Amino acid sequence: MKVVVTGGAGYIGSHTIIEIVESTDWELISIDSFINSTPDTFRRVEEITGKKIANFRIDLCDRSALENVFTEIGPVDGIIHFAALKAVGESVEKPLLYFHNNITGLLNILECCDKFNIPNLIFSSSCSIYGNVAVLPVDEMTPLAKSESPYAATKAMGEDILKDFSKVSNTNLIALRYFNPVGAHSSGLIGENPINKPSNLFPVITQTAVGIIKEMQVFGSDYKTRDGSCIRDYIHVSDIASAHILALKYALEQEKLENLEFYNLGSGKGVSVLEAISTFENISNLKLNYNLSDRRAGDVESIYSNSKKAKSKLDWTPKFELKAMMNSAWKWQQQLENEKLKS
Ligand code: NAD
Ligand code: WQD
Repeated sequence: MKVVVTGGAGYIGSHTIIEIVESTDWELISIDSFINSTPDTFRRVEEITGKKIANFRIDLCDRSALENVFTEIGPVDGIIHFAALKAVGESVEKPLLYFHNNITGLLNILECCDKFNIPNLIFSSSCSIYGNVAVLPVDEMTPLAKSESPYAATKAMGEDILKDFSKVSNTNLIALRYFNPVGAHSSGLIGENPINKPSNLFPVITQTAVGIIKEMQVFGSDYKTRDGSCIRDYIHVSDIASAHILALKYALEQEKLENLEFYNLGSGKGVSVLEAISTFENISNLKLNYNLSDRRAGDVESIYSNSKKAKSKLDWTPKFELKAMMNSAWKWQQQLENEKLKS
């Protein structure tokens, strides 16, 4: 069993690689250009698993380089396609970069599925494709709203491309719609390490706690929610990782899926920004310096998932509660601080 993971040095890709090494005997090959990561991730993965990860440092948009990889590695049983750019704000500033990278990368991967007879592909989709929803929780039947950003548009388009491709290709196609992946590996050795100033809540909280951010902003305190702040569905990155293994195993068992299958991956629990902050304060015994500020453009008020389909069809059960998610994110931030002190 040979599996290609694109974006293997990234946040979710690296956690998935660890799960694969620890729970399967699959041969693994990563493809990552390090456009939003560094090779150091693989050193950390090796430290955790004791296994060296083979990575091809190429841009997926370079079709001939990609074909050379598949020619060199021989028959492949499945691809887990994480590689994409993911910063919502940056995508508004650089829409062409996002459309080019995320769509060309996907098209090239799909062309290779055809050319090299690759039977299974798992695609990273996102809850951002649901946009502003009227009814909660969101399940897979919830209609998709207009995309709020070029980033979200690349995920909605990605699914459209997969839907059409599923009708003519021999590849089983599965899209996993992640809600808000957070937290870090239990070792504390890998986690999310944004190269630029973070915009996601969990790294903002932990960076505020160590003083990298002097005062964090709670974007909006006048929403029609239980405490006025936005509600999201946070899900541990290792739970997201394990869903990919289950999805690929499920795909391997199928003859040929007639259509694209898509699954929500969320905890099913809505958590407000202020609840996330108070959970952090509880687990760390620290007071966070925060300010209630204006709403952030493009934010939806509330979104959380109904993930019963993933539970029933993929046998996926998330293991981590909010406290554990926060603890692991905090442990990782402290690890980064210790490393800074040592260097
Ligand atoms: P990440 O940026 O940490 O990892 C993505 C990896 O892909 C990086 O290592 C990057 O260098 C690589 N990459 C990007 N474009 C590439 C290209 N053209 N060629 C080769 N390598 C390339 O992101 P992540 O958080 O691990 O996200 C993984 C996937 O999950 C993405 O598709 C993202 O859109 C999706 N997703 C993420 C979240 C989230 O909040 N993290 C939520 C929903 C969906
Ligand atoms: C969560 C909540 C903020 C920072 C994004 C993408 C989505 C998906 C997941 C990729 C919101 C509030 C945040 C801060 C705050 N990614 N917040 N102060 O926006 O739900 O989703 O990541 O597919 O597509 O849009 O996540 O972590 O940025 O924000 O008050 O400094 O925290 O307003 O309510 P979001 P987030």
